[in-house]
Amino acid sequence: MQDITDLAFWNLQADYGEADLVYTPYFRVHATSRLNRTLLGSITQSPPHRRVIAQIIGEDIPSIVRTALELQQYRIAAIDLNLGCPAPIVCRKKVGGGLLRIRDKIDAILAALRSAVTIPLTVKTRLGYDSTEAFVDLLELFRKNSIDLLTVHARTVKDMYGGHVQYDLISEAVRKLSCPVLANGDIVNPQQGLDILSCTGAHGLMVGRGAIRNPWIFAQIRAMVAGRSPIYPTGREMRDYLLHLQQSVRWAGGTEHQHVERMKKHLQFIGPGIDPSGLFLHQILRVRTVAEFDRVVHQWLDHRKVLPLSLHSEDPPAISVPHLMPEEKREKPSRELRIPELFSHGTGPSKWPLEVR
Ligand SMILES: Cc1cc2nc3c(=O)[nH]c(=O)nc-3n(C[C@H](O)[C@H](O)[C@H](O)COP(=O)(O)O)c2cc1C
Repeated sequence: MQDITDLAFWNLQADYGEADLVYTPYFRVHATSRLNRTLLGSITQSPPHRRVIAQIIGEDIPSIVRTALELQQYRIAAIDLNLGCPAPIVCRKKVGGGLLRIRDKIDAILAALRSAVTIPLTVKTRLGYDSTEAFVDLLELFRKNSIDLLTVHARTVKDMYGGHVQYDLISEAVRKLSCPVLANGDIVNPQQGLDILSCTGAHGLMVGRGAIRNPWIFAQIRAMVAGRSPIYPTGREMRDYLLHLQQSVRWAGGTEHQHVERMKKHLQFIGPGIDPSGLFLHQILRVRTVAEFDRVVHQWLDHRKVLPLSLHSEDPPAISVPHLMPEEKREKPSRELRIPELFSHGTGPSKWPLEVR
């Protein structure tokens, strides 16, 4: 997530139960683009065990191939093509979600990438631009170009980040493709994550905003997959997370004002989990100094009550498990979600020419 899930956040989140894979925010690609140094730093400065997928966004095929070849010199698990960013300025340039209106172009980009890169090639897509009508055709393009993994944010571009998530179409992707499929969209608690795995047949989950709010979510889901009860944080544990977040997202050389404003980007996703009435977020969005930020956090969270973080009215209702997959085809999520092996570093070049510093 742009400006949110950077190296500092990955490192912090890892303390609460690391995800199996992380995606960089997208590298913008055009005729004169160079690899963004900050994003590159999140790859080169990650610990060796972390599987990082480098995401790119663009439409100029020679530039996309050039960038992918440059990126695969680094220790990344895969190259991911973004077909989902809904920002109007992005879509107007016919990249990200905007590309979903030009399927021939997607085909040409994937074919060029497929023949150029030697590491896994993955795609993150939405269901379509303003309707889901052509989703099946899109899946056919992914199948034809033999991508190695697909993540489906089960909304259209026009839906932006709200509205109904169409998990049934994730099942469709699972049925049509032979590669693993990750389900994405509004996963905010571990039970719901399990339900989505089960009812879609997806091989894994991608969690965005839910992991900012609840960095424990991956550990909670793993616990449930293993048949154990998930552990929910107390107020004080949440307080400590927020104070660590406050310290770790500080930019070297940034002013206090910039630092506090940056924190607010994260807090917009976290606030409603702490206080569904909105008062906590209201107070946080008005702080002007780090000291004020810390004071509000202490005021609200110096207690030992358990925080579900997601069971509030503003959250999407926990989905029931409709029979989206025929019963005989549905799998109980296995202990291993099978994704990591595909992206073990062994699948990339045996030696990375540009080593991590
Ligand atoms: C602020 C913000 C930045 C995002 N940046 C990216 C991005 O760079 N690449 C990407 O594939 N998705 C990006 N997304 C989309 C998320 O990865 C995810 O698909 C979407 O938020 C739905 O999942 P969630 O409900 O788990 O957050 C971003 C979302 C937000 C809110």
